[in-house]
Amino acid sequence: MTYQPRLGVNIDHIATLRQLRNTPYPDLLEAARLCEAAGAEQITVHLREDRRHIQDADVKRLRAELRVPLNLEMAATDEMVRIAGRIRPDWACLVPEKRNEVTTEGGLDVVKNKKRVELAVKKLQKAGIRVSLFVEPSLEAMAVASELEADAVELHTGLFCLAAQGALGARSPRKSETELERIRKAGLAARKQGLHVHAGHGFDYENVRRAALLEVKDAHGQPVPLIEEYNIGHAIVCRAALVGMERAVREMISAILAP
Ligand code: PXP
Repeated sequence: MTYQPRLGVNIDHIATLRQLRNTPYPDLLEAARLCEAAGAEQITVHLREDRRHIQDADVKRLRAELRVPLNLEMAATDEMVRIAGRIRPDWACLVPEKRNEVTTEGGLDVVKNKKRVELAVKKLQKAGIRVSLFVEPSLEAMAVASELEADAVELHTGLFCLAAQGALGARSPRKSETELERIRKAGLAARKQGLHVHAGHGFDYENVRRAALLEVKDAHGQPVPLIEEYNIGHAIVCRAALVGMERAVREMISAILAP
């Protein structure tokens, strides 16, 4: 059982900025190095079927150069399983994927897609890759994840995070409570079944604190954090754009004034 939760930084949106203009920058590895230097214990990227941000070459390069583990988010398709088998990330996180979605909407339906997911889990594990399933925080999903012998579940925290941000109108405060309770119950059930508990989607610098307060008792009856790993992207990249702005402007002024 892990006593201190880890942060995995999802750097997809560094690639989004690059793909917007097809420029050689921002450099993904440089971004990953800064995350590592700041204490991130994992780098996460999602190789989408439409390659809208992360490219195959990015995953290969990160795999070769990273000092921390690489977590590859991917659909449970033959193509992606083949690519993962070649690149061998430390973790594969199986996610649902719809072509037109802005971001991953909802968790993987492990009941409806049980056979396909089971096959992907087996193939990935056989290649030495640990597998997490990105699922809704429901007891049913925990049971299926355990049945499929996944190594971990990544609890989809999107609805909790939206509610905690007040995005669901007047019902937000109540909804954020009920969603957090769903996350707690699902996390406890997962732990009981021997699954590692990861979480992600929608976290910001405020709502993550509420999730980080959730606890489980360890083997000695001591309370420890329930969630072992967070995978967070959008909020960190957004914050980086602000806290890095001053230096970025200074460097450009200097390039112009002192060429
Ligand atoms: N975990 C999974 C499985 C995801 O699909 C995403 C979004 O790509 C994240 C974590 C990170 O979510 P966010 O960018 O909202 O922090």
